[in-house]
Amino acid sequence: MKVVRTVAEMRAARHAVGDLGLVPTMGYLHEGHLSLVARARAENAATAASIFVNPTQFGPNEDLARYPRDLPRDLALLEAAGVDLVFVPEAAEIYPPGFATAVEVRGVTDVLEGAVRPGHFAGVATVVAKLFNIVQPTRAYFGQKDAQQCVVIRAMARDLDLPVEVVVAPTVREADGLALSSRNSYLTPEQRAVAPAIYRGLQAAKALFDGGERDAEALRRAIRAAVEAEPQMSIDYVSVADPETLRELTRVTSQALASAAVRLGTTRLIDNLLLA
Ligand code: PAF
Repeated sequence: MKVVRTVAEMRAARHAVGDLGLVPTMGYLHEGHLSLVARARAENAATAASIFVNPTQFGPNEDLARYPRDLPRDLALLEAAGVDLVFVPEAAEIYPPGFATAVEVRGVTDVLEGAVRPGHFAGVATVVAKLFNIVQPTRAYFGQKDAQQCVVIRAMARDLDLPVEVVVAPTVREADGLALSSRNSYLTPEQRAVAPAIYRGLQAAKALFDGGERDAEALRRAIRAAVEAEPQMSIDYVSVADPETLRELTRVTSQALASAAVRLGTTRLIDNLLLA
């Protein structure tokens, strides 16, 4: 496994391989990331991962400084998973002095995470556009857990004609349903025990949907009820929206994205399920 730190080294390494799958990450890897690596390996001649805690996607009061980091462990996991190339840039390599450009995807970034975290998706879209240009992958792999991020990146790749296939892979969960996330490491044991309430709420909505319920507010109520049963949790939003436009639905006529963002102590958790 080759570890490269500069754009020039990454470009040179990329040109030595054919079909390349990229798994962009912010590190502190878990099984969700490794499932993306496995998929990338199965579908490409070579696999690359990037590890970069992107400062521009964190708001001023968010967790950039305390975001978990463990580069030696991440590199060992990637090597064991069969990754060929890892790009680990410093912030100054990605955002050198004078850097003045941002990628803004309009519409789908105004709602849900974008409404609570202004500027977040401009940071994500900008760094992912840069990673696509630097690594030049054939395919890039993202987790469905960050459903809105996937919608934004697909829209960006389409609108800017980026020659990358964006692949979205299923959310990986703990046995009790909690979606894997690097931020789960912030949870105290007590908080960890109640965290699966979000998934229970989403499952309750899915059970109603599967039973024929099409009133979006009734589905939202089911999610809220499960979360509100846990007094430690406070809701940022509960949503039943069109999976492509992310606009809230009144009635579900075909598919819907059920999603929620919840605060548990100082940790913010998100999750979603597709109702189809
Ligand atoms: O999902 C993430 O880890 C990040 O948002 C990403 C896509 C690596 C961009 O920094």
